[in-house]
Amino acid sequence: MKKVLILAGSLREGSFNKLLAKGVKENFSDIFNFEIFSNFEKIPHYNADDQQKDGFPDIVNQLGEKIRDSHGVLVVTPEYNYSIPGYLKNTLDWLSRLKENPFSGKPLCIQSASLGPLGGARVQYHLRQVLVFLDAKVMNKPEIFVTFAASKFDEKTGKINDETTLNFIKDQMIAFDKFIN
Ligand code: FNR
Repeated sequence: MKKVLILAGSLREGSFNKLLAKGVKENFSDIFNFEIFSNFEKIPHYNADDQQKDGFPDIVNQLGEKIRDSHGVLVVTPEYNYSIPGYLKNTLDWLSRLKENPFSGKPLCIQSASLGPLGGARVQYHLRQVLVFLDAKVMNKPEIFVTFAASKFDEKTGKINDETTLNFIKDQMIAFDKFIN
């Protein structure tokens, strides 16, 4: 079965985007073998002096290896001020400096969840711009925007409780499986 690494944030414990990633893993493990990475807070701020002096942090090398070892990557992210959250951009900045760019030619798709009515539409297009430089092979459609996120997850269990959202995600996962081939 194909391996898909999910980069899922935000950093906060109750993150809807983390819940979304968990929901993807729970509901669609018949399509992909998923692994979730959410430890963005363990990655130091990128500083070229540090990189020159100390090389790459272990966690960055390990994450790069996980991406290389995966058939595809799914990014599940919130939108911060119409754009990419700092910890995610920082992670991409580190990964982009590795000797062998792990994103080069890597199939990638995106999901976002936000409290508002656009579901993070704007972060997705900023992220796509960054991923052009990283040379990732980003799937265009179907797009997944989880709008009004607070209403799409069960308050007690944190599971996705919205059938329409699950159907949209299923369509995206089936398309991603074909896209990777
Ligand atoms: C937000 N939020 C937000 N929502 C949105 O739809 N567009 C935006 O530009 C922003 N900007 C923004 C900036 C910052 C700094 C924060 C903390 C929040 C609200 C956001 O959708 C909400 O906090 C989500 O719950 C964040 O995702 P997680 O943490 O639940 O995964």
